[in-house]
Amino acid sequence: MGAKLTSIRGMEILDSRGNPTVRVFVELTDGTTAVASVPSGASTGENEALELRDGDAHRYAGKGVLKAVANVNEKIAPELVGMTVFQQALIDRKMISLDGTENKSNLGANAILGVSMAVARAAAVSAGIPLYEYLGGSGARRIPVPCMNILNGGEHADNSVDIQEFMAVPLGAPTFREGLRYVAETFHVLKGLLKGKGLATSVGDEGGFAPNVGSNEEAIEIIIQAIEKAGYKPGTDIAIALDSAATSFATDEKGAYNLKWSGAGPMKSDDLIALSERWVSKYPIVLWEDPLAEEDWEGFKNFTRRLGDKIEVVGDDLFVTNTKYIARGIQEGSANSSLIKLNQIGTVSETIEAVRMCRDAGWRYFISHRSGETSDTFLADFAVAMDGGHLKTGSASRSERIAKYNRLLEIEQDLKDSALYYWK
Ligand code: PGA
Ligand code: ZN
Repeated sequence: MGAKLTSIRGMEILDSRGNPTVRVFVELTDGTTAVASVPSGASTGENEALELRDGDAHRYAGKGVLKAVANVNEKIAPELVGMTVFQQALIDRKMISLDGTENKSNLGANAILGVSMAVARAAAVSAGIPLYEYLGGSGARRIPVPCMNILNGGEHADNSVDIQEFMAVPLGAPTFREGLRYVAETFHVLKGLLKGKGLATSVGDEGGFAPNVGSNEEAIEIIIQAIEKAGYKPGTDIAIALDSAATSFATDEKGAYNLKWSGAGPMKSDDLIALSERWVSKYPIVLWEDPLAEEDWEGFKNFTRRLGDKIEVVGDDLFVTNTKYIARGIQEGSANSSLIKLNQIGTVSETIEAVRMCRDAGWRYFISHRSGETSDTFLADFAVAMDGGHLKTGSASRSERIAKYNRLLEIEQDLKDSALYYWK
């Protein structure tokens, strides 16, 4: 039993890039109200669930989400009102079948996810427990290592760096609070180093710096300098994680790449893997996301064969948080971890299924925000609930990123001595 849904309403709000996104309000019979807002990606995978945009060139260059909002109000709400809020999986199932398509293109994954998240949050409020405990049970007490994206390139910045994200990973810290301090201090030191070299200290979409350094390697080297100058030992206190988002520098020919921004030029999959091996032996890299493009399953397999026992190999665009593709990846040995983004698949319960599949296969999973975000902190609770051990939610700047970090600080404080923090 428990409280039932009495009202579900959507509205159009703006995300951190100033583009429209969906916010959903729900109300329950016991008077509970809850709200959730949907994130939005830029370097999206081909097979992600569809984010429904209006396509009306007179509003937000076609990016309005009034159709998705109308779907929440007129199509989803009448079907769900009266349902018990604790039936998350059933509610999500109902929206999936109401949509009726494989990629949620009918109602829009933005409409469906907004409702799914707001329902989960309302259920937690109604139950009188924190969201991380509602979704993860009373054993949820591991705070994720914050993989902080301190330098941005690729499609998230206008500079000469091909790799999209360079993350600082405070794996040697004793607690989340300390880990966050390690990498926030490194971020500030990095700013000084960039300034000293006459490089830009403006930030990209996820709050990392986006300087015109000459090459990808130069970016890694300056981050290592920043780690040392901040008083930490690279590899021991703070390691490095990368997200190549390699689909963005793949050419039309399968298995072929062009690292054009850094001037490194055309490369085959094998050359890129050989280069990655050199970097992994030279630099303290512990995790590499999307080192190859989403259609290069063969390349992923080779990459994992050669580096999978040394580092976490994460598929983002390759798997799009979809159990269909993760299952293939497990079967073929394409990676040893999946990125997990709620809006790639479009419901909370399907995201949990993706996590479960990774866990059952002995894989890791890496919980992630999107480059377009809101101040919603759902992700922080979700990461603790899923016991993933690490997450990425941007840099030590931009409030939509900091909001998640601050929520994790709160959760760690709530858990007191029972909170856990460790890498692996
Ligand atoms: P996106 O980028 O949110 O723009 O897709 C994040 C990522 O590639 O991990
Ligand atoms: Zn990615």
